[in-house]
Amino acid sequence: MKLFLDTASIDEIRTMWELGILDGVTTNPSLVAKAGRKFDDVLRDITGLGVPSVSAEVVGTTAEAMVAEGRRLREIHPSIYVKIPMIPEGLKATRTLAGEGTRVNMTLVFSPNQALLAAKVGATYVSPFIGRLDDHGQVGMDVIRDIVTIYRNYQTSTQVLVASVRHPIHVLEAAKIGADIATMPFAVMEKLVAHPLTDLGLARFLQDWEKVPKG
Ligand code: E4P
Repeated sequence: MKLFLDTASIDEIRTMWELGILDGVTTNPSLVAKAGRKFDDVLRDITGLGVPSVSAEVVGTTAEAMVAEGRRLREIHPSIYVKIPMIPEGLKATRTLAGEGTRVNMTLVFSPNQALLAAKVGATYVSPFIGRLDDHGQVGMDVIRDIVTIYRNYQTSTQVLVASVRHPIHVLEAAKIGADIATMPFAVMEKLVAHPLTDLGLARFLQDWEKVPKG
C-alpha cells in the first residue's frame, strides 16, 4: 500500500521524504490555509522535492470553473493530480479532465455508490473520508471494504485512496483490506515508524556492546 502525507507543510513532507517511505502528498484548501503560504508556491516546493503524486484541490463549484482550474494546476508540474469534489458538477469536470489525460482525485467521497460514479467518469483516485464517517457514528472502514470489493468485481482501474485517517489502526485496516493508498497526517505517519520495544531493544544492544572486549 502506498503511503501519502495529508499536509501542506513542506517541513513535514521533507522529513518523511528523506526517510524514503513517502509515495505522495494530498492537500486540501484547509491544509493550504493552515500553511499560510501561496498555493502555487506550496505546490512548487512539494513537486520540487521529487514527490511523484501531489493532489491539489480546485475551489470552483461549476464544471466550467473546475475544468479551468484543473487545467491550470496540471501545468504547474506533471506530478500534480487534480482534486475534484464529488458533486454533480464535479462528475462533469472529471469526465472532461480525465478525457484530456489529467489524473483526477475525486474527493469528499462518503459512500460506495459515489465511488462507483467516480470510477465511471475516469477518476484515477477516489478519496473516501473514513475519519469523518467515524465521527458521524458510521464505520468508515466498512465503506473502504465495500469500495474495494466493488472495484475488484469490475476490474476497475481507479485506485482507492483512504483519506481522513486518524490513527495507525486505520492504516493497518486499510492495508488488510487491500486499499491502494492511505493518506495521513504527519503525526500518524510518525507513529507507524516508532515502537517503544524498538527503542528499548536498541538501548539494550548498545549497552551490551559496551561490554564486548575491544581492540
Ligand atoms: C484527503 O485528501 C483530505 O485532505 C483529508 O484526508 C481530510 O482529512 P480530515 O477529515 O482529517 O480533514
